[in-house]
Amino acid sequence: MSDSNKPHFVFPKWTNKIVKVILIGAVLLPIYVVLLLYYGANARTLNVGYEPVQPVPYSHALHAGTLGINCEYCHTDVARAAFAALPPTQTCMNCHTAIAPKSRKLQLVRDSYGTGNPKLAGMPIPWKKVNALPDYVYFNHAAHVNAGISCLVCHGHVNEMTRVYQARPLNMAWCLACHRNPAPYLRPRNEVTNMSWTPKNKARLAGDLGLSVAKLPKNLGKYLMARYHIPGKKILTDCETCHR
Ligand code: HEC
Ligand code: HEC
Ligand code: HEC
Ligand code: HEC
Ligand code: HEC
Repeated sequence: MSDSNKPHFVFPKWTNKIVKVILIGAVLLPIYVVLLLYYGANARTLNVGYEPVQPVPYSHALHAGTLGINCEYCHTDVARAAFAALPPTQTCMNCHTAIAPKSRKLQLVRDSYGTGNPKLAGMPIPWKKVNALPDYVYFNHAAHVNAGISCLVCHGHVNEMTRVYQARPLNMAWCLACHRNPAPYLRPRNEVTNMSWTPKNKARLAGDLGLSVAKLPKNLGKYLMARYHIPGKKILTDCETCHR
Protein backbone atom coordinates (compact mmCIF):
# COMPACT_ATOMS: atom_id res chain seq x y z
CA MET A 1 0.00 0.00 0.00
CA SER A 2 1.37 3.44 -0.86
CA ASP A 3 1.47 6.25 1.70
CA SER A 4 -1.14 8.39 -0.03
CA ASN A 5 -3.71 5.65 0.52
CA LYS A 6 -3.32 5.81 4.31
CA PRO A 7 -6.37 7.32 5.92
CA HIS A 8 -5.73 10.86 7.13
CA PHE A 9 -5.78 11.13 10.89
CA VAL A 10 -7.86 14.11 11.93
CA PHE A 11 -7.58 15.43 15.48
CA PRO A 12 -10.97 15.56 17.14
CA LYS A 13 -12.20 19.09 17.83
CA TRP A 14 -11.70 19.00 21.61
CA THR A 15 -7.95 18.75 21.17
CA ASN A 16 -7.88 22.42 20.14
CA LYS A 17 -8.43 23.18 23.79
CA ILE A 18 -5.44 21.06 24.76
CA VAL A 19 -3.28 22.93 22.28
CA LYS A 20 -4.37 26.17 23.93
CA VAL A 21 -3.58 24.81 27.38
CA ILE A 22 -0.15 23.65 26.19
CA LEU A 23 0.56 27.04 24.65
CA ILE A 24 -0.44 28.89 27.79
CA GLY A 25 1.66 26.42 29.77
CA ALA A 26 4.67 27.00 27.54
CA VAL A 27 4.45 30.71 28.26
CA LEU A 28 3.80 30.38 32.00
CA LEU A 29 6.28 27.61 32.84
CA PRO A 30 9.48 29.66 32.44
CA ILE A 31 7.90 32.48 34.43
CA TYR A 32 6.97 29.94 37.10
CA VAL A 33 10.50 28.53 37.17
CA VAL A 34 12.03 31.99 37.48
CA LEU A 35 9.64 32.92 40.30
CA LEU A 36 10.30 29.59 42.05
CA LEU A 37 14.06 30.02 41.89
CA TYR A 38 13.87 33.62 42.94
CA TYR A 39 11.21 33.57 45.63
CA GLY A 40 11.00 29.88 46.44
CA ALA A 41 14.33 28.12 46.44
CA ASN A 42 16.31 31.24 47.15
CA ALA A 43 13.93 33.21 49.32
CA ARG A 44 15.70 32.62 52.61
CA THR A 45 19.32 32.62 51.47
CA LEU A 46 19.01 35.82 49.41
CA ASN A 47 17.36 37.61 52.29
CA VAL A 48 19.97 40.32 52.80
CA GLY A 49 18.71 42.70 55.48
CA TYR A 50 16.44 40.10 57.13
CA GLU A 51 16.19 41.38 60.70
CA PRO A 52 13.72 39.52 62.89
CA VAL A 53 12.61 41.11 66.17
CA GLN A 54 14.17 39.07 68.97
CA PRO A 55 12.35 38.04 72.19
CA VAL A 56 14.94 39.95 74.28
CA PRO A 57 16.23 43.33 73.02
CA TYR A 58 19.84 42.12 73.24
CA SER A 59 22.28 44.45 71.46
CA HIS A 60 25.57 43.38 69.85
CA ALA A 61 26.42 47.07 69.42
CA LEU A 62 26.41 47.41 73.22
CA HIS A 63 27.92 44.05 74.24
CA ALA A 64 30.37 43.26 71.39
CA GLY A 65 30.90 46.94 70.45
CA THR A 66 30.91 49.31 73.44
CA LEU A 67 31.68 46.68 76.12
CA GLY A 68 34.09 44.86 73.77
CA ILE A 69 33.09 41.31 74.78
CA ASN A 70 34.76 38.84 72.39
CA CYS A 71 32.47 36.92 70.00
CA GLU A 72 33.83 33.63 71.31
CA TYR A 73 32.82 34.41 74.90
CA CYS A 74 29.24 33.72 73.76
CA HIS A 75 29.63 31.80 70.48
CA THR A 76 31.99 29.37 72.16
CA ASP A 77 31.99 26.61 69.54
CA VAL A 78 32.66 28.67 66.45
CA ALA A 79 36.29 27.55 66.08
CA ARG A 80 35.60 23.95 67.17
CA ALA A 81 32.30 22.86 65.64
CA ALA A 82 30.22 23.08 62.50
CA PHE A 83 27.68 25.28 64.31
CA ALA A 84 28.52 28.56 65.98
CA ALA A 85 25.79 28.03 68.63
CA LEU A 86 24.05 30.68 70.73
CA PRO A 87 25.02 31.21 74.39
CA PRO A 88 22.99 29.53 77.15
CA THR A 89 21.12 31.78 79.58
CA GLN A 90 23.84 31.15 82.17
CA THR A 91 26.29 33.21 80.05
CA CYS A 92 24.02 36.27 80.26
CA MET A 93 23.52 35.79 83.97
CA ASN A 94 27.29 35.74 84.60
CA CYS A 95 26.81 39.52 84.44
CA HIS A 96 23.10 40.15 84.79
CA THR A 97 22.67 38.73 88.28
CA ALA A 98 24.58 41.90 89.24
CA ILE A 99 24.16 44.26 86.25
CA ALA A 100 20.66 45.71 85.68
CA PRO A 101 19.19 42.86 87.81
CA LYS A 102 15.70 44.38 87.78
CA SER A 103 15.58 45.56 84.14
CA ARG A 104 12.27 44.81 82.44
CA LYS A 105 14.17 44.13 79.23
CA LEU A 106 15.82 41.17 80.98
CA GLN A 107 12.57 39.62 82.28
CA LEU A 108 12.69 36.69 79.81
CA VAL A 109 16.34 36.03 80.69
CA ARG A 110 15.47 35.78 84.39
CA ASP A 111 12.43 33.60 83.56
CA SER A 112 14.66 31.21 81.64
CA TYR A 113 17.28 31.23 84.40
CA GLY A 114 14.75 30.30 87.06
CA THR A 115 14.67 33.57 89.00
CA GLY A 116 11.56 34.94 87.25
CA ASN A 117 8.28 33.32 86.27
CA PRO A 118 8.59 29.75 87.69
CA LYS A 119 6.50 28.36 84.80
CA LEU A 120 9.24 29.35 82.32
CA ALA A 121 12.21 28.19 84.45
CA GLY A 122 14.72 26.21 82.40
CA MET A 123 13.09 27.09 79.07
CA PRO A 124 15.70 28.36 76.58
CA ILE A 125 15.20 31.91 75.29
CA PRO A 126 13.38 31.49 71.96
CA TRP A 127 15.87 33.42 69.77
CA LYS A 128 14.89 33.73 66.11
CA LYS A 129 17.37 32.39 63.57
CA VAL A 130 18.75 35.10 61.26
CA ASN A 131 21.14 33.37 58.86
CA ALA A 132 19.95 30.04 57.48
CA LEU A 133 21.10 27.71 54.71
CA PRO A 134 18.87 25.04 53.18
CA ASP A 135 19.35 21.59 54.77
CA TYR A 136 20.95 20.14 51.65
CA VAL A 137 23.96 22.47 51.95
CA TYR A 138 26.86 21.47 54.19
CA PHE A 139 28.52 24.33 56.04
CA ASN A 140 31.13 24.27 58.78
CA HIS A 141 32.16 27.26 60.92
CA ALA A 142 35.32 25.73 62.33
CA ALA A 143 36.76 25.03 58.86
CA HIS A 144 36.35 28.69 57.90
CA VAL A 145 37.39 30.29 61.16
CA ASN A 146 40.53 28.12 61.35
CA ALA A 147 41.37 29.04 57.78
CA GLY A 148 41.55 32.69 58.89
CA ILE A 149 38.20 33.95 57.56
CA SER A 150 36.72 36.61 59.79
CA CYS A 151 33.12 36.72 61.01
CA LEU A 152 33.14 40.16 59.41
CA VAL A 153 33.41 38.70 55.88
CA CYS A 154 30.20 36.67 56.23
CA HIS A 155 28.18 38.54 58.87
CA GLY A 156 29.22 42.18 58.44
CA HIS A 157 29.81 44.62 61.31
CA VAL A 158 27.84 42.68 63.94
CA ASN A 159 29.61 44.78 66.59
CA GLU A 160 27.68 47.80 65.30
CA MET A 161 24.26 46.10 65.06
CA THR A 162 21.64 46.92 67.68
CA ARG A 163 19.65 44.06 66.17
CA VAL A 164 21.37 41.40 64.03
CA TYR A 165 20.42 41.27 60.37
CA GLN A 166 21.60 39.07 57.50
CA ALA A 167 24.50 40.95 55.91
CA ARG A 168 25.36 38.73 52.90
CA PRO A 169 23.33 36.78 50.31
CA LEU A 170 24.58 33.29 51.45
CA ASN A 171 23.58 31.81 48.09
CA MET A 172 25.72 29.44 46.02
CA ALA A 173 27.18 32.18 43.79
CA TRP A 174 28.35 34.01 46.91
CA CYS A 175 30.03 30.92 48.40
CA LEU A 176 31.68 30.11 45.08
CA ALA A 177 33.00 33.63 44.52
CA CYS A 178 35.25 33.13 47.54
CA HIS A 179 35.93 29.42 46.96
CA ARG A 180 37.39 30.22 43.53
CA ASN A 181 39.98 32.50 45.13
CA PRO A 182 39.99 32.73 48.93
CA ALA A 183 43.47 34.28 49.32
CA PRO A 184 42.39 37.95 49.51
CA TYR A 185 39.99 37.16 52.41
CA LEU A 186 42.50 35.47 54.68
CA ARG A 187 44.02 36.89 57.86
CA PRO A 188 45.87 35.40 60.85
CA ARG A 189 43.62 32.96 62.72
CA ASN A 190 43.80 34.77 66.03
CA GLU A 191 42.34 37.94 64.41
CA VAL A 192 39.11 36.41 63.05
CA THR A 193 36.91 38.01 65.73
CA ASN A 194 38.72 41.36 65.58
CA MET A 195 36.28 43.60 63.76
CA SER A 196 38.82 46.39 63.21
CA TRP A 197 41.80 44.30 62.05
CA THR A 198 43.99 45.74 59.32
CA PRO A 199 47.05 44.19 57.60
CA LYS A 200 48.67 47.65 57.73
CA ASN A 201 49.64 47.24 61.37
CA LYS A 202 52.95 45.50 60.61
CA ALA A 203 54.12 45.07 64.20
CA ARG A 204 50.88 43.34 65.19
CA LEU A 205 50.86 41.21 62.03
CA ALA A 206 54.43 40.09 62.74
CA GLY A 207 53.39 39.16 66.28
CA ASP A 208 50.36 37.20 65.00
CA LEU A 209 52.51 35.22 62.59
CA GLY A 210 55.51 34.83 64.90
CA LEU A 211 57.80 36.48 62.33
CA SER A 212 59.97 39.57 62.41
CA VAL A 213 58.64 42.64 60.56
CA ALA A 214 61.48 42.26 58.04
CA LYS A 215 60.43 38.68 57.28
CA LEU A 216 56.73 39.49 56.66
CA PRO A 217 55.53 37.91 53.40
CA LYS A 218 54.86 40.24 50.45
CA ASN A 219 51.64 38.46 49.59
CA LEU A 220 49.85 37.67 52.86
CA GLY A 221 46.97 35.76 51.19
CA LYS A 222 49.27 33.47 49.24
CA TYR A 223 51.42 32.91 52.33
CA LEU A 224 48.41 31.98 54.50
CA MET A 225 47.01 29.65 51.80
CA ALA A 226 50.20 27.59 52.15
CA ARG A 227 50.58 27.97 55.92
CA TYR A 228 46.98 26.91 56.68
CA HIS A 229 47.03 24.17 54.00
CA ILE A 230 43.98 25.57 52.22
CA PRO A 231 42.91 23.33 49.35
CA GLY A 232 42.83 24.71 45.81
CA LYS A 233 39.95 25.88 43.65
CA LYS A 234 39.45 22.38 42.23
CA ILE A 235 38.43 20.93 45.62
CA LEU A 236 36.69 24.04 46.94
CA THR A 237 34.39 24.33 43.90
CA ASP A 238 33.65 20.59 43.68
CA CYS A 239 29.89 19.93 44.12
CA GLU A 240 30.70 17.25 46.72
CA THR A 241 32.32 19.80 49.02
CA CYS A 242 29.00 21.49 49.81
CA HIS A 243 26.44 18.89 48.69
CA ARG A 244 27.20 15.49 50.24
C1 HEC B 1 27.24 38.50 75.24
C2 HEC B 1 27.02 37.46 74.28
C3 HEC B 1 27.34 37.67 72.81
C4 HEC B 1 28.49 38.19 72.25
C5 HEC B 1 29.71 38.76 72.95
C6 HEC B 1 28.32 38.09 70.82
N1 HEC B 1 27.11 37.52 70.54
FE1 HEC B 1 26.38 37.11 68.69
N2 HEC B 1 24.61 36.51 69.50
C7 HEC B 1 24.33 36.47 70.85
C8 HEC B 1 22.93 36.14 71.04
C9 HEC B 1 22.19 36.01 72.39
C10 HEC B 1 22.38 35.97 69.75
C11 HEC B 1 20.91 35.63 69.39
C12 HEC B 1 20.07 36.88 69.41
C13 HEC B 1 20.37 37.82 68.30
O1 HEC B 1 20.34 37.42 67.13
O2 HEC B 1 20.69 39.00 68.58
C14 HEC B 1 23.46 36.22 68.81
C15 HEC B 1 23.34 36.14 67.43
C16 HEC B 1 24.39 36.30 66.52
C17 HEC B 1 24.30 36.11 65.10
C18 HEC B 1 23.05 35.72 64.34
C19 HEC B 1 22.79 34.23 64.47
C20 HEC B 1 21.75 33.75 63.50
O3 HEC B 1 20.66 33.38 63.95
O4 HEC B 1 22.04 33.76 62.30
C21 HEC B 1 25.54 36.35 64.56
C22 HEC B 1 25.93 36.27 63.11
C23 HEC B 1 26.39 36.73 65.66
N3 HEC B 1 25.67 36.67 66.84
C24 HEC B 1 27.71 37.08 65.51
C25 HEC B 1 28.48 37.62 66.54
C26 HEC B 1 29.79 38.21 66.33
C27 HEC B 1 30.50 38.32 65.00
C28 HEC B 1 30.22 38.62 67.55
C29 HEC B 1 31.52 39.34 67.88
C30 HEC B 1 31.75 40.58 67.15
C31 HEC B 1 29.18 38.27 68.52
N4 HEC B 1 28.15 37.68 67.87
C32 HEC B 1 29.26 38.50 69.89
C33 HEC B 1 25.21 36.70 71.88
C34 HEC B 1 26.47 37.26 71.72
C1 HEC C 1 30.25 40.75 80.48
C2 HEC C 1 28.99 41.19 81.04
C3 HEC C 1 27.71 40.98 80.26
C4 HEC C 1 27.23 39.83 79.70
C5 HEC C 1 27.91 38.46 79.62
C6 HEC C 1 25.92 40.14 79.16
N1 HEC C 1 25.61 41.45 79.42
FE1 HEC C 1 23.89 42.40 78.91
N2 HEC C 1 24.63 44.15 79.65
C7 HEC C 1 25.84 44.30 80.25
C8 HEC C 1 26.02 45.70 80.62
C9 HEC C 1 27.24 46.32 81.31
C10 HEC C 1 24.84 46.37 80.23
C11 HEC C 1 24.50 47.84 80.38
C12 HEC C 1 23.70 47.99 81.63
C13 HEC C 1 23.15 49.40 81.77
O1 HEC C 1 23.12 50.15 80.81
O2 HEC C 1 22.74 49.70 82.89
C14 HEC C 1 23.97 45.35 79.63
C15 HEC C 1 22.70 45.60 79.16
C16 HEC C 1 21.84 44.64 78.66
C17 HEC C 1 20.46 44.87 78.29
C18 HEC C 1 19.72 46.21 78.39
C19 HEC C 1 19.19 46.36 79.79
C20 HEC C 1 18.44 47.64 79.97
O3 HEC C 1 17.61 47.70 80.89
O4 HEC C 1 18.68 48.61 79.22
C21 HEC C 1 19.94 43.69 77.84
C22 HEC C 1 18.52 43.43 77.34
C23 HEC C 1 21.01 42.72 77.93
N3 HEC C 1 22.14 43.32 78.46
C24 HEC C 1 20.87 41.39 77.58
C25 HEC C 1 21.88 40.45 77.68
C26 HEC C 1 21.76 39.07 77.25
C27 HEC C 1 20.52 38.45 76.62
C28 HEC C 1 22.94 38.47 77.48
C29 HEC C 1 23.33 37.05 77.17
C30 HEC C 1 23.25 36.64 75.78
C31 HEC C 1 23.82 39.46 78.09
N4 HEC C 1 23.15 40.65 78.19
C32 HEC C 1 25.11 39.21 78.52
C33 HEC C 1 26.77 43.32 80.50
C34 HEC C 1 26.67 42.00 80.09
C1 HEC D 1 32.43 31.72 55.55
C2 HEC D 1 31.31 32.45 56.10
C3 HEC D 1 31.13 32.53 57.60
C4 HEC D 1 32.05 32.88 58.56
C5 HEC D 1 33.53 33.21 58.38
C6 HEC D 1 31.34 32.91 59.82
N1 HEC D 1 30.04 32.56 59.63
FE1 HEC D 1 28.59 32.43 61.03
N2 HEC D 1 27.26 31.69 59.68
C7 HEC D 1 27.54 31.54 58.33
C8 HEC D 1 26.43 30.86 57.69
C9 HEC D 1 26.34 30.50 56.21
C10 HEC D 1 25.47 30.61 58.71
C11 HEC D 1 24.13 29.86 58.56
C12 HEC D 1 24.45 28.40 58.81
C13 HEC D 1 23.32 27.43 58.61
O1 HEC D 1 22.15 27.82 58.52
O2 HEC D 1 23.61 26.22 58.56
C14 HEC D 1 26.03 31.15 59.95
C15 HEC D 1 25.41 31.09 61.20
C16 HEC D 1 25.93 31.66 62.35
C17 HEC D 1 25.28 31.65 63.65
C18 HEC D 1 23.94 31.01 63.98
C19 HEC D 1 24.18 29.63 64.58
C20 HEC D 1 24.66 28.63 63.56
O3 HEC D 1 25.78 28.08 63.73
O4 HEC D 1 23.95 28.37 62.58
C21 HEC D 1 26.10 32.32 64.52
C22 HEC D 1 25.87 32.57 66.01
C23 HEC D 1 27.28 32.71 63.77
N3 HEC D 1 27.15 32.30 62.46
C24 HEC D 1 28.36 33.39 64.33
C25 HEC D 1 29.60 33.54 63.72
C26 HEC D 1 30.79 34.06 64.36
C27 HEC D 1 30.87 34.55 65.80
C28 HEC D 1 31.80 34.02 63.44
C29 HEC D 1 33.26 34.41 63.60
C30 HEC D 1 34.00 33.77 64.69
C31 HEC D 1 31.23 33.48 62.21
N4 HEC D 1 29.90 33.19 62.43
C32 HEC D 1 31.94 33.26 61.03
C33 HEC D 1 28.67 31.96 57.68
C34 HEC D 1 29.85 32.33 58.29
C1 HEC E 1 35.30 34.46 52.21
C2 HEC E 1 35.62 33.12 51.75
C3 HEC E 1 34.61 32.00 51.89
C4 HEC E 1 33.25 32.05 51.83
C5 HEC E 1 32.36 33.28 51.63
C6 HEC E 1 32.78 30.70 51.97
N1 HEC E 1 33.83 29.85 52.14
FE1 HEC E 1 33.72 27.83 52.39
N2 HEC E 1 35.75 27.73 52.56
C7 HEC E 1 36.61 28.80 52.45
C8 HEC E 1 37.97 28.34 52.68
C9 HEC E 1 39.24 29.19 52.68
C10 HEC E 1 37.88 26.95 52.90
C11 HEC E 1 39.05 25.97 53.17
C12 HEC E 1 39.11 25.61 54.61
C13 HEC E 1 40.11 24.50 54.84
O1 HEC E 1 39.82 23.38 54.46
O2 HEC E 1 41.16 24.80 55.38
C14 HEC E 1 36.48 26.60 52.83
C15 HEC E 1 36.00 25.31 53.00
C16 HEC E 1 34.66 24.96 52.90
C17 HEC E 1 34.17 23.61 53.04
C18 HEC E 1 35.02 22.37 53.32
C19 HEC E 1 35.31 22.31 54.77
C20 HEC E 1 34.94 20.99 55.38
O3 HEC E 1 34.60 20.97 56.56
O4 HEC E 1 34.97 19.99 54.66
C21 HEC E 1 32.80 23.68 52.88
C22 HEC E 1 31.83 22.53 52.96
C23 HEC E 1 32.46 25.06 52.64
N3 HEC E 1 33.62 25.81 52.66
C24 HEC E 1 31.18 25.51 52.44
C25 HEC E 1 30.85 26.85 52.22
C26 HEC E 1 29.50 27.32 51.96
C27 HEC E 1 28.27 26.44 51.87
C28 HEC E 1 29.58 28.67 51.82
C29 HEC E 1 28.47 29.65 51.54
C30 HEC E 1 27.31 29.61 52.40
C31 HEC E 1 30.97 29.05 51.99
N4 HEC E 1 31.71 27.92 52.22
C32 HEC E 1 31.45 30.34 51.93
C33 HEC E 1 36.27 30.10 52.20
C34 HEC E 1 34.98 30.60 52.09
C1 HEC F 1 30.86 26.34 48.15
C2 HEC F 1 29.68 25.57 48.33
C3 HEC F 1 28.94 25.05 47.12
C4 HEC F 1 29.47 24.33 46.05
C5 HEC F 1 30.91 23.95 45.80
C6 HEC F 1 28.34 23.97 45.23
N1 HEC F 1 27.18 24.45 45.78
FE1 HEC F 1 25.28 24.16 45.04
N2 HEC F 1 24.51 25.31 46.56
C7 HEC F 1 25.26 25.92 47.54
C8 HEC F 1 24.37 26.72 48.35
C9 HEC F 1 24.77 27.58 49.55
C10 HEC F 1 23.06 26.56 47.84
C11 HEC F 1 21.77 27.19 48.35
C12 HEC F 1 21.42 28.23 47.34
C13 HEC F 1 20.31 29.12 47.67
O1 HEC F 1 19.44 28.80 48.48
O2 HEC F 1 20.34 30.20 47.06
C14 HEC F 1 23.18 25.65 46.69
C15 HEC F 1 22.12 25.24 45.90
C16 HEC F 1 22.22 24.36 44.85
C17 HEC F 1 21.11 23.88 44.07
C18 HEC F 1 19.65 24.24 44.28
C19 HEC F 1 19.24 25.31 43.27
C20 HEC F 1 18.92 26.62 43.86
O3 HEC F 1 19.27 27.65 43.23
O4 HEC F 1 18.32 26.69 44.93
C21 HEC F 1 21.60 23.03 43.13
C22 HEC F 1 20.82 22.26 42.06
C23 HEC F 1 23.06 23.01 43.29
N3 HEC F 1 23.40 23.83 44.36
C24 HEC F 1 23.94 22.29 42.51
C25 HEC F 1 25.32 22.35 42.59
C26 HEC F 1 26.24 21.69 41.66
C27 HEC F 1 25.82 20.84 40.46
C28 HEC F 1 27.51 21.96 42.08
C29 HEC F 1 28.83 21.58 41.42
C30 HEC F 1 29.04 22.14 40.10
C31 HEC F 1 27.38 22.79 43.29
N4 HEC F 1 26.06 22.99 43.55
C32 HEC F 1 28.46 23.24 44.04
C33 HEC F 1 26.61 25.79 47.74
C34 HEC F 1 27.49 25.13 46.92
